[in-house]
Amino acid sequence: MQIVRTIAETRAAVAAARAQGRTVGLVPTMGALHEGHLSLIRAARAACDVVVATIFVNPKQFGPTEDFAKYPRTFDADCDLLRAENVDILFAPGLDEMYPPGATTFVEVAEISDRLDGVSRPGHFRGVATVVAKLFNIVAPDRAFFGQKDAAQVAILRRMVRDLNFPLEIVVCPIVREQDGLAMSSRNSYLSADDRHRALILSRTLRHIEQQIATGVTSAAALIATGLGVLAQQPSARLDYLRVVDPDTLADIPDIGKGALIAIAAWIGPTRLIDNTLIPPR
Ligand code: PAJ
Repeated sequence: MQIVRTIAETRAAVAAARAQGRTVGLVPTMGALHEGHLSLIRAARAACDVVVATIFVNPKQFGPTEDFAKYPRTFDADCDLLRAENVDILFAPGLDEMYPPGATTFVEVAEISDRLDGVSRPGHFRGVATVVAKLFNIVAPDRAFFGQKDAAQVAILRRMVRDLNFPLEIVVCPIVREQDGLAMSSRNSYLSADDRHRALILSRTLRHIEQQIATGVTSAAALIATGLGVLAQQPSARLDYLRVVDPDTLADIPDIGKGALIAIAAWIGPTRLIDNTLIPPR
């Protein structure tokens, strides 16, 4: 695996592969890698000749009171994991390489960025769209791989690719979970033993809602009421949102008949966690 720190070296490495007619897959991450990330790497490995992973904890997607400084950084262990998955190129830039002094340009995917996580994390999706647009321009992949775990991020990036005519395909991979149902996340490492147990309330809420859908319920209000009932069993969880939305626009919908994204975010102690389930059209 070639570890590169600069944009110029990354472009040169990708250009060399392209000159041989090889296809390029991109897997952007913030590191602290787990099986969720590795599932994206494996999907890229299976679909593309050259796999480029990136590790960059992007300050522009963290709010001023959020966890940028304490976000887990496990670079050496991450490199071992990526090597074991036969990643070809790891782009791990420093802050100044990505945002040299005077960098003032942002990518804003309007409206949709102000929904779901965008409500309690203002500016978050602007930071995500900006850094991912930069990575797309730097690597110019044929395919880029993202997790369904961050469903709102997927909706925003799909829209950005469409609106800005990026010549690439976005591939979305399913949520990877721990055995007990907790969606894998780099932020799970923040959880105390008690909070780790309490965190199961997110996936449990979604499973109850899915069970209700299996009995024929399609009303968003009814499904949300069910979810709130389950959440009440874990009073220490502080709900940020539980919404039934259109998976493309993230706008609320009254009924899941045409398909829906059911998304939840909650604080478990000091840690904010998200989870979701995608309901296919009936
Ligand atoms: P990060 O949280 O490191 O996640 C990198 C990728 O891994 C994202 O596409 C995310 O959806 C995916 N992922 C995380 N947990 C997953 C799980 N349990 N199952 C499946 N996929 C999972 O998302 C980001 O970084 C950043 O916003 C980034 C896109 C890198 C831009 O900075």
